[in-house]
Amino acid sequence: MSRAGIILAAGMGTRMKSATPKVLHKVAGLEILGHVIAAMKSAGVSRIVVVSAPAMENVRAFASAAGADNAIQDKQLGTGHAALCAKGALGDFTGAVLVNNGDMPLARPEMMSDSLASAERHGLSIVAFRPHDAAAYGRVLLDKDGMLERIVEFKDASPEQRKVDLCCAGTYSAANAQAFFGWAARLSNDNAQKEYYLPEVPLVARADGVRSAVTETDEITVMGVNSRAELADAEAQMQRRLRNAALAAGVGMQAPETVYLSHDTLLEADVQVGPFVVFGPRVTVRSGAEIKAFSHLEGAEVGARALIGPYARLRPEAVIEDDVHIGNFVEVKKARIEKGAKANHLTYIGDARVGPGANIGAGTITCNYDGFDKHFTDIGAGAFIGSNSALVAPVKIADGVYVGAGSTITKDVEKDALAVERAEQKQVSGWAEKFRARKRAEKAAKAKGK
Ligand code: UD1
Ligand code: MG
Repeated sequence: MSRAGIILAAGMGTRMKSATPKVLHKVAGLEILGHVIAAMKSAGVSRIVVVSAPAMENVRAFASAAGADNAIQDKQLGTGHAALCAKGALGDFTGAVLVNNGDMPLARPEMMSDSLASAERHGLSIVAFRPHDAAAYGRVLLDKDGMLERIVEFKDASPEQRKVDLCCAGTYSAANAQAFFGWAARLSNDNAQKEYYLPEVPLVARADGVRSAVTETDEITVMGVNSRAELADAEAQMQRRLRNAALAAGVGMQAPETVYLSHDTLLEADVQVGPFVVFGPRVTVRSGAEIKAFSHLEGAEVGARALIGPYARLRPEAVIEDDVHIGNFVEVKKARIEKGAKANHLTYIGDARVGPGANIGAGTITCNYDGFDKHFTDIGAGAFIGSNSALVAPVKIADGVYVGAGSTITKDVEKDALAVERAEQKQVSGWAEKFRARKRAEKAAKAKGK
């Protein structure tokens, strides 16, 4: 059955005190809106409309890139009015529709599909939950059959109604989108906030003889983000969820509570992650690899059995093949480190290829940038780069080359050659002993003079 989704995102989110619209703040490296869109897609929603305010060009760009359509709510007249603004974008669509607040990063697909399935049975369905602190949420009142009587907004609720602990989550489903828009169009704004309330749609539907069902979910799933503190709470909850999923998938973590994951972090079974590791977006780590403490990875691929860190930094487009070792204070950016190569200490490798089995000595730097352009360094299979070498790109070090320690390499080096670039070493026999004797004599003379 065809299903559509409407995401409400036109609210200002003023409590965030940010120039960025609330739904574009990130949780686990993905915009809140991205989480809601992803959950809807997983719930089988094929057409998604995001409702934003006129100034929110960036929200619309994000929605389009994520495969959703856009609708604009010219004035923020309330959630019911916002949902109605999506009508044009859905045309004559008559399948089921799910309407969801845009500020719900922990929304789960199952919560949405339960709600849609319930609406497909009953015509209309809303999601409720029982928060620890019901605060200012809309209160859900049930009739004697356990169907929805009505939702009362906190500001309109009597002291008696405020005692109800069942609250409106901000997720609503209807079996027929056109019926839903018909009800939304009949809302009034005769209430405390002079707004068209989406939670009053069921009241209008009831007048047409359609009683709304209620599905219940847990507090975390429908947690809304309205402030920086709530954003931090949502991040913490999301991290817990991602860590638990990684552990369940066979990832080893000594101190999971210190490991930060992104929404798309892909760690295979038998990856071992040490304490205080941060995974930015787009990281994949293959089985048997170990990411040691205090490493930072982003946009990187790590092959099987590779050893990374401690204190390693893998930046976007770092491709670490199987059995590679990347040690402490090594930074890799846009570079392929081929099978079994090693860079164990204090190195920068950027815009480069390091051939299989090559050994990169401590302090090696690929000098990839001339202030204007980036240039490529190619290091061949089995090459040995002596410590503290500067490889000035563009430069090609062929297979099997030895580069002497401390060299600044500016010209290509041919296969199996030795390249050394430094002044020849001089030896002055007996100089050190003469130097010490002179210094000792000076010191003794000075002491006598005092
Ligand atoms: C809303 C519900 C409340 C529920 C709570 C759950 C209403 C009237 N109340 O309250 O019953 O318990 O969510 O979190 O719906 N938005 C628009 N246009 C508008 C107004 C809001 O697009 O004119 C969007 C916001 O961007 C936001 C969502 O709708 O994503 C909800 O709005 P918000 O102001 O956060 O509603 P709450 O007061 O939280
Ligand atoms: Mg809210």
